[in-house]
Amino acid sequence: MPVTLTKSGAIAVVSIDNPPVNALNTAIRAQLLALVEATEADAAISAVVLIGAGKLFVGGADITEFDRPPEQPDLPSVIARIERATKPWVAAIHGAALGGGLELALVCHYRVAAPGATLGLPEVSLGFIPGAGGTQRLPRLIGPEAAIPVVAERQMLPTDAAARLGLLNRVIEADLRAGAVAFASEAAAIPLPQPLPAQPLADPGAAFWDAARARIDKAAKGQAAPLAALEAVRFGVENGATLGLQQERATFLHLRSTEESLALRHLFFAERAAPRPADLRGVEPAPLRLVGVVGGGTMGSGIAAALRNAGLQVILSEQDAAALDRGLASVHGLFDAAARRGLTSAAEAADRKAGVAGVVGLQGLAACDLVIEAVFEDLVVKRAVFAGLAETCRPDAILATNTSYIDPRQIAEGMAGPDRFLGLHFFSPAQVMKLLEIIPIPETSSQTRATGFDLARRLSKIPVQSGICEGFIGNRLLKRYRGAAEAMVAQGVAPAAIDAAMRGFGYPMGPFEMQDMAGLDISFMNREAARAKGEDVPETPADLLVRSGRKGIKTGGGWYDYAPGDRKPQPSVQAAQIIAPLVAAPCTLAPDAIVARLLGVMAAEGQAILAEGIANTPAAIDLVQVHGYGFPRTKGGPMFYASRKTPS
Ligand code: NAI
Repeated sequence: MPVTLTKSGAIAVVSIDNPPVNALNTAIRAQLLALVEATEADAAISAVVLIGAGKLFVGGADITEFDRPPEQPDLPSVIARIERATKPWVAAIHGAALGGGLELALVCHYRVAAPGATLGLPEVSLGFIPGAGGTQRLPRLIGPEAAIPVVAERQMLPTDAAARLGLLNRVIEADLRAGAVAFASEAAAIPLPQPLPAQPLADPGAAFWDAARARIDKAAKGQAAPLAALEAVRFGVENGATLGLQQERATFLHLRSTEESLALRHLFFAERAAPRPADLRGVEPAPLRLVGVVGGGTMGSGIAAALRNAGLQVILSEQDAAALDRGLASVHGLFDAAARRGLTSAAEAADRKAGVAGVVGLQGLAACDLVIEAVFEDLVVKRAVFAGLAETCRPDAILATNTSYIDPRQIAEGMAGPDRFLGLHFFSPAQVMKLLEIIPIPETSSQTRATGFDLARRLSKIPVQSGICEGFIGNRLLKRYRGAAEAMVAQGVAPAAIDAAMRGFGYPMGPFEMQDMAGLDISFMNREAARAKGEDVPETPADLLVRSGRKGIKTGGGWYDYAPGDRKPQPSVQAAQIIAPLVAAPCTLAPDAIVARLLGVMAAEGQAILAEGIANTPAAIDLVQVHGYGFPRTKGGPMFYASRKTPS
């Protein structure tokens, strides 16, 4: 039985054992309910300890049940039954009490915890609000001021903070079970506390609510759940817990069936599955301690910082002393910036700097377990680097390229030991962006691939395996997306209208603003290279801009104009004149039509990517877009979005 009852004298210990996270599924809820009745009926029991088996108390409700109507007994009825118990229940928390897990703990009459546990209500991340009393009981226990960040702003409370706020009655340093049993014996000897919903709660006043609303609205970026969570708390404060619980449940049931919640749950499952591909089960990754990075430019310096931030020792290699100085200075700059923003201490920044050594040439990389190459995007240069690495490094050292477009098979051609070679495609800025495309070549061994996935886990990145094609999954989609946007411009739609439509959809910026930021010249050079090879690549408006020296923000203008020192795009008369020869008479297109066309193109390219076996699942494409290109999480990714638009 996943929920068991054992006795320690007069104390019943109810243990939930449902690996991996003790999720509260229907069976667990039914057994819990039965055990409340059993403990109530047993005169020899004076109090109950509720504890989780394994690594944690309870990680939450079972989200896989959320696609179906709620099954009985639902969590609110189980919780209400515990609240009516005549014997004290003590939640004994270790590891984590999250979502429904914390709601279960909140309904117990007392809570004790081991050091190092995490308590939180992360429901809004999945597009709904707590549905079993979290928005009502937590404010009554710790006050609305402390509860709102937890309920509506994803704040996680470690044991010590939870204890300070009064969420915990005792922190148990020694054995949790024994400590909780001792606590329960004490609790059995005193009257039961008043249930939380019956406790009075002062209204913090309109100014407080307005400030909280403004803060949450700003951070929510159009997502519905955070504000709904705030409103649920406020409603309960203003109208009392009985009505508050009803309103909370109704909001929960409504929100969990919205497109937003379905999209966020789709991503939640995709993200959870990403680090553990089925075909690598049982394959041990190689141990990584010392990692080399070749090239200290934009990408190399960011990759070095990301590796070091994850606790790895790093050696940065450059081609000469001046470039090495520049590379190390950029890495140090990233650590200093993190310290300035309060993300790390000054001592931590110094320690991180000390963990990044610099070398000129490849000789100094002999001891590395993994080397990531991030030199110029040039096949000859890259091949020379890998020939050197194959000579210098241990035969079991893993060698990776960060190339954006070059076929990794060509880079590895003739290299000794190609089984330890793969593509690890980071995104800029590499110390920030979550996506890591993993690109095996046919010779890449399972262990090499598993090490790539394990590295992503250590860097807290989302790994997505991609087959080999021009631009892999992400840049191939981007090229089609941009191409379709530019085709619209050629038809007479203003770039600013297209950007506004895509921002309205939820992208942080539109395709033309993004090009101006990244620079128009790289894709221009790609087109020129294709033309030089005799491919038929028609002239585009972007070509005209680059030929006129408008390469984006770095040249003071591209699709837009920019005032010196200002990154805010201003519509450009000059740009409009330059592209005029390739642009039809001005026309307008409704934002919805713009969005539909661009997302349609992306989904069609995604289908082709799937058909060719470049991506393993539609969800992989969604992860690439969400974590590498700013696709709004609340829409789930281009493939998920398309699947919802075309009912099957
Ligand atoms: P970058 O031009 O900023 O940096 C390249 C660095 O490599 C320079 O500092 C150069 O001195 C160094 N270098 C060249 N040959 C070397 C050698 N033999 N040994 C040691 N160092 C050497 O270029 P960036 O943008 O960092 O790109 C590097 C690679 O990453 C390219 O393959 C690029 O396609 C890829 N990439 C770039 C992204 C971006 O957004 N910039 C995104 C993802 C991948």
